[in-house]
Amino acid sequence: MTARMMERIVLVRHVEGAPQPADFRVETLPIPELAEGQFLIANRFVSCDPGTRSRLSPGASYARPVMPGEPVDGFCVGEVVESRNARFAVGQRVTATGWASHVVSSGKGYVLPLPDLDVPESLWLGILGVPGMTAWFALKRVAELKPGARVLITSAAGPVGTTAGQLAKRWGAAHVVGVAGGAEKCRWLAEVAGFDEALDYKAPGFEAAFAEAAGPGFDVMLDNVGNAMIDRALPHMKVFGRIVLSGATADYLADTVPGVVNMREMIAKRLRMEGILVFDDLPGFAEAQAGIAAMVADGLVYREEIFDGLATLPDAFCGLFTGASFGRRLVRI
Ligand SMILES: NC(=O)c1ccc[n+]([C@@H]2O[C@H](COP(=O)([O-])OP(=O)(O)OC[C@H]3O[C@@H](n4cnc5c(N)ncnc54)[C@H](OP(=O)(O)O)[C@@H]3O)[C@@H](O)[C@H]2O)c1
Repeated sequence: MTARMMERIVLVRHVEGAPQPADFRVETLPIPELAEGQFLIANRFVSCDPGTRSRLSPGASYARPVMPGEPVDGFCVGEVVESRNARFAVGQRVTATGWASHVVSSGKGYVLPLPDLDVPESLWLGILGVPGMTAWFALKRVAELKPGARVLITSAAGPVGTTAGQLAKRWGAAHVVGVAGGAEKCRWLAEVAGFDEALDYKAPGFEAAFAEAAGPGFDVMLDNVGNAMIDRALPHMKVFGRIVLSGATADYLADTVPGVVNMREMIAKRLRMEGILVFDDLPGFAEAQAGIAAMVADGLVYREEIFDGLATLPDAFCGLFTGASFGRRLVRI
């Protein structure tokens, strides 16, 4: 009998600085026989997430580093095609983890049956998946966003930032400023996604434009890029403002992460700075997903960049760190 085969992405060597496609390879291997309690997921899409970078070098992260020769995890969405687990029947659609064509799972970890919502499957890795949930809980639970708030969002043209800006407007923010790299992203944020202002941090004159856009100050900052941007924003926060640390894409690559020197602003303005790890909010996902799905039906926009075939994944992932990505990067299996 011919063995059934699967593909997965394996780390070749630990990554230094920006990841390169040669840091990864595609491995083909037989699909293992299922043990009692296991089920097999055939993936339809896997996603590229900047946070994966923090696990590709030795050192501290919220999860242990991937070692050379080991498979890399990312988020995926697929269908159960074989099952020896009563909770996950054949035909069940799930979101799970694995940069692979197939995943053998026992249901432990981040493995969720998809709610019965009539939306494109790819959205479970985007606005209805981890990025969308991060935007929702960062603003609602951590920032406790109030109507009338002035909001600053960095990496605003990415899936977290784009969703957050639109949620903030729908929840009554008075003014939402996005920061992104390049004129095209900024134009899209202002003209399509409804941000009040979008600033290109790569353009000459950004510092002056930033100070002007800050105006009377920001009540909420949602930061996705790291310390330099936080340090820039601190003097422009309003009294009792809140800074939510979602990600640090710039700092994931830095040999020496820049320090934050404007910390006295925290005292004088009684600011609160708090990180989010979205999996703490798992119990609230279904409600948030239903909320965002309703908003999509009502005009909430999103961007996807879809690549075809698992072999394209290393290139697609590396593009997150060059500014090439514009929206949610997914690979269709
Ligand atoms: N805490 C959580 O639970 C959680 C969950 C999901 C995601 N996150 C974090 O949220 C952040 C946003 O995630 P996302 O999925 O929406 O990805 P994303 O923002 O689309 O990330 C890719 C983008 O980051 C920007 N970027 C890359 N290098 C940069 C640099 N050196 N300086 C400034 N910007 C840079 C680029 O956009 P520009 O061209 O605009 O620079 C790039 O297109 C990430 O840091 C991620 O790790 C956190």
